[in-house]
Amino acid sequence: MAGLLEGKKGIIFGALNDMSIAWKVAERAHEEGATFVLTNAPVAMRMGAIQELAKKTGSEIVPADATVNEDLENLFIKSQEILGGKVDFVLHSIGMSPNVRKGKGYTDLNHEWYKKTLDISGMSLHRTLQAAKKLDAINDWGSVVALTYIAAQRIFPDYGDMADAKSVLESIARSFGYHYGKDSKVRINTISQSPVMTTAGQGVGGFDAFLNFSEQMSPLGNAGSLDCANYCLAMFSDLTKYVTMQNLFHDGGFSKTGVTAEVMEKFMSE
Ligand SMILES: NC(=O)c1ccc[n+]([C@@H]2O[C@H](COP(=O)([O-])OP(=O)(O)OC[C@H]3O[C@@H](n4cnc5c(N)ncnc54)[C@H](O)[C@@H]3O)[C@@H](O)[C@H]2O)c1
Repeated sequence: MAGLLEGKKGIIFGALNDMSIAWKVAERAHEEGATFVLTNAPVAMRMGAIQELAKKTGSEIVPADATVNEDLENLFIKSQEILGGKVDFVLHSIGMSPNVRKGKGYTDLNHEWYKKTLDISGMSLHRTLQAAKKLDAINDWGSVVALTYIAAQRIFPDYGDMADAKSVLESIARSFGYHYGKDSKVRINTISQSPVMTTAGQGVGGFDAFLNFSEQMSPLGNAGSLDCANYCLAMFSDLTKYVTMQNLFHDGGFSKTGVTAEVMEKFMSE
């Protein structure tokens, strides 16, 4: 497969290092012929790795804090200048909870941090879409994908306030998807991904054990980052033109599995 995204222009949020899901999306989008701008929070720029990815994919970087409207408007203005026109796809791959990071459990949240979690990991999708719509920066039939996790529907205790942020994120995809679809045929979906070892993933307590549990509870096993990237590309392509306002599970079957033989075995009496 080559050229699936030939001629398409985009913006990719969230490539922090080579473990990031967004990093894999950028590499694969480049291989499939897309041109794009890379963006991340100004603080993430200091890590330096994103420059390496920009070089590798022939991309420019425009920093933007996804909780600052002016940054996002600047991002869409600059991106259109760099790419020579409106964009066709946007990847929202952003997640951070100060409460989870600092070990604050769900019944003992710091509510100022909680607001930050909701803003960074949820409302930032609304801010991004509102900036894009105001500037009419996305082509008709353009595609926006945000990454999410099944803790939006079912309880995973160590995911803390991120679960609430993901519920907000998925709801925004549905609500904005209606308006943007009606007005400009722009489609908006969330992809609910299996757990994978990344910087954000590592922040969740007991993540190693959790990866193993999820692996054993998924008939196909956990979906990896590269396969997640491929699914994102499919959603950016014209092959999925009429898919919008959906939460799409990319999880090896985890979301539909009650129990598996491997897990049952652990509860068998001798
Ligand atoms: N890793 C997993 O197990 C997993 C599973 C399902 C969904 N996801 C989701 O995938 C997405 C990407 O996460 P990842 O696992 O690749 O980890 P990651 O840590 O590599 O990516 C998270 C990104 O969010 C960025 N970010 C944080 N605050 C920001 C801000 N204010 N403005 C702009 N960017 C900001 C970070 O700089 C980082 O690049 C997240 O939405 C995450 O919740 C991850």
